[in-house]
Amino acid sequence: MASAFRPLLLFLLLLPLSVTANLHKSKTLLKSSLFSSTTTSHLNDTPPTTYFEVTKPIRLPKTQPCVYPILHHDFGYTYGKPPVLAEYIPPSHCPSHDFSKIVLEWSATCKGRQFDRIFGIWLGGVEILRSCTAEPRATGIVWSVKKDITRYYSLLVKNQTQSLAVYLANLVDRTYTGVYHVNITAYYYPAEKKFNDFESNLENLASGYGSRADLILPISRNFPLNDGLWFEIENSTDTEGKEIKIPQSVFRAVLELYVSFHESDEFWYGNPPNDYLLAHNLTDTAGNGPFREVVVTLDGNVIGAIWPFTMVYTGGINPLLWRPISGIGSFDLPSYDIEITPFLGNMLDGKTHTLQFHVTNALNVWYIDANLHLWLDGKNTYTEGSFFSIRSISSTGWVKSSHGKITTKAIQKFSYANSMVMGNNGNVQMVNQEIRFDDSVQVKKPYAFSKENKSLKRFLIDLYSNDMDQGNRTYLSVANVMLGFNENKFGVRGAGFRMPVSSLENLQNGQGIKVVKNKLLVSGVGCTQQKYKCEGNKFCYFRNISSSNYTILNDEVGNACN
Ligand SMILES: *[C@@H]1O[C@H](CO)[C@@H](O)[C@H](O)[C@H]1NC(C)=O
Ligand SMILES: *[C@@H]1O[C@H](CO)[C@@H](O)[C@H](O)[C@H]1NC(C)=O
Ligand SMILES: *[C@@H]1O[C@H](CO)[C@@H](O)[C@H](O)[C@H]1NC(C)=O
Ligand SMILES: *[C@@H]1O[C@H](CO)[C@@H](O)[C@H](O)[C@H]1NC(C)=O
Ligand SMILES: *[C@@H]1O[C@H](CO)[C@@H](O)[C@H](O)[C@H]1NC(C)=O
Ligand SMILES: *[C@@H]1O[C@H](CO)[C@@H](O)[C@H](O)[C@H]1NC(C)=O
Ligand SMILES: *[C@@H]1O[C@H](CO)[C@@H](O)[C@H](O)[C@H]1NC(C)=O
Ligand SMILES: *[C@@H]1O[C@H](CO)[C@@H](O)[C@H](O)[C@H]1NC(C)=O
Repeated sequence: MASAFRPLLLFLLLLPLSVTANLHKSKTLLKSSLFSSTTTSHLNDTPPTTYFEVTKPIRLPKTQPCVYPILHHDFGYTYGKPPVLAEYIPPSHCPSHDFSKIVLEWSATCKGRQFDRIFGIWLGGVEILRSCTAEPRATGIVWSVKKDITRYYSLLVKNQTQSLAVYLANLVDRTYTGVYHVNITAYYYPAEKKFNDFESNLENLASGYGSRADLILPISRNFPLNDGLWFEIENSTDTEGKEIKIPQSVFRAVLELYVSFHESDEFWYGNPPNDYLLAHNLTDTAGNGPFREVVVTLDGNVIGAIWPFTMVYTGGINPLLWRPISGIGSFDLPSYDIEITPFLGNMLDGKTHTLQFHVTNALNVWYIDANLHLWLDGKNTYTEGSFFSIRSISSTGWVKSSHGKITTKAIQKFSYANSMVMGNNGNVQMVNQEIRFDDSVQVKKPYAFSKENKSLKRFLIDLYSNDMDQGNRTYLSVANVMLGFNENKFGVRGAGFRMPVSSLENLQNGQGIKVVKNKLLVSGVGCTQQKYKCEGNKFCYFRNISSSNYTILNDEVGNACN
């Protein structure tokens, strides 16, 4: 099998069942990435290393934020336990209750040895952050994730007690000693007149959704559970989801999906076809080929799909690549929006409908849930709609509300290319994959130009890996990886006047070498280079940064637009 992945399997085979079950949850050897010994003699004198993901800073209004510490928790042995809960009620001490920005901050420290752990944060069942922990060092690490959660506004300011749930399945024993000490804080920035203008509209446009939804319904699992609120999709026939009923005054609906892949499918883009595995007698190796599609259905009919970004978690491929610069998206996994307004005609009957997910070719396990963002008509309490056609994943429908009869056309276009070369009985692997994933939403009101928002995404991954058995349960692994996330957004007015909204180019290259003995990483080194460039109207941010062996070599940050 894939070179990088093979040791993982050997690893799993060596483990007692109970631990396998845990690893099964969220780990592979690729992530196991731990030093078996430390060479540092002054563990307590050395300051902790700060890890970070390169991304643009959140643009904040100039107002003073109200700070709300929501949760402090030490995640020790949390595996198989219920999510950690905090009571959430919007802050009453703020002078204003009109906020233009709400930011969630996760900050954590950890020391010792630990896997990278996937975790989620849900408010009232609505997922607001999916992330992966950083892997600690003996001398300790610290990192923080800041996320603009303003799009969940209606939920965040709801004047009632809701539960905020955090699930992070950690396991602590003599070997895996890292406990995650976590603070979760929210910052509420009161609206500033100036900020509420054209620029912020453009920013809304850039974020892919217009004004905030009036109501957000969770499509996630209910309590009680000893797990995350996400659904677990274990194979290609497994279908999970929920029954929902929406108010009859809805005139727009967007489904936001959170997706992450683990265990046998953590490196799905490198999974060989089953034929190859059979021919090489690799029966214990993850297969099903390198194509995956997350499909969303409404009452059994396809309404949209996601071809996910090939994220690499902080312990993936070679953990030394992601210290201190974390992999693209690993600290703040992208969520994906699907415009489902065209289907409102089918949903506005006051009856219950079934929203479900499945994953083409899935192997165990995918964590998926969704948030249904709904815009309500303030004047009509009843809207009516009709659905016209669905051809592949193109859909058109109309909704009549106090805004008039609005026809919405949503189109998703996908393309995919993967080439995989394997040699030396699966110990050498070269994968090159590109996904193009385009969404467009066109809205037409009577007697007005149509307006279209388009997003063109390109997800790239190139992986070279070579594992060399050194005997004595030791192997040497060389891995190079290129990871890219590009997105172009623009608006189209009428018959073709194009307005650029934003563009993002985010590219990482990494080269690593590691020596792994019995499941522990004993030595190695990783180098990473990243170029990040994000441009919007009157907004630009770029960063050119590289690191080697935990040290930043160069770091250039700019915000000048050409
Ligand atoms: C969490 O907050 C406490 C109290 O403010 C602070 O002492 C601690 O350093 C914080 N920890 C992290 C990881 O931010
Ligand atoms: C929230 O609800 C409480 C009790 O119902 C009420 O006293 C308070 O004024 C409300 N706060 C806001 C900001 O509406
Ligand atoms: C496009 O974005 C604008 C600005 O955020 C928003 O008002 C509009 O509803 C969006 N249009 C569509 C068709 O999604
Ligand atoms: C797929 O997963 C579901 C849910 O765990 C299970 O019921 C079903 O038997 C599995 N199907 C196959 C073919 O393994
Ligand atoms: C495949 O592997 C199994 C288990 O190691 C072994 O018993 C069997 O002989 C192998 N078959 C071939 C065709 O190599
Ligand atoms: C194999 O590993 C054991 C334990 O780590 C060590 O004592 C031994 O010297 C190693 N043998 C070789 C040939 O490297
Ligand atoms: C990034 O920095 C490296 C090292 O300083 C330099 O060689 C490279 O040209 C820079 N790239 C860009 C796009 O600025
Ligand atoms: C990495 O840096 C450490 C010190 O932080 C040093 O001891 C080690 O030799 C370096 N490794 C490589 C391969 O450069």
